[in-house]
Amino acid sequence: MAYLEWNDSYSVKINSIDQQHKQLIAYINELHEAMSQGKSKQVMGDILAKLANYTVEHFTLEEKYMSDHHYVDLDNHKNTHASFVKKVSEYRQAYEEGKFLISIEIMNFLKDWLTNHIMGTDQNYSAFLVAKGVK
Ligand SMILES: [Fe+2]
Repeated sequence: MAYLEWNDSYSVKINSIDQQHKQLIAYINELHEAMSQGKSKQVMGDILAKLANYTVEHFTLEEKYMSDHHYVDLDNHKNTHASFVKKVSEYRQAYEEGKFLISIEIMNFLKDWLTNHIMGTDQNYSAFLVAKGVK
């Protein structure tokens, strides 16, 4: 069983976003699997980089949708994204510098952050963007 399973209650009813959320879950699972198998620093670092870069790409799309449709809570949502991106990039840097190991605490942080964000903050724009025709 995967570390983090997609669940239909995670859906924001916007296919392009759901697909990206699924990809983020896949990267978190890949990182967890690599950690469990004691993979090399190179392998772990590469997955962490993919996760970090994809997170930025994903947030950019969400923010574009919210901005295009003048979503009222855009600024708060952007701030939430920015602080997560900052945290992940700090982890990445510390990892590259050998100051830090990928642990279950970090995995749980990533998992909890993503599921709470999808289930909470992202659900708040769902009905609004769906009504605007975003798919
Ligand atoms: Fe979001």
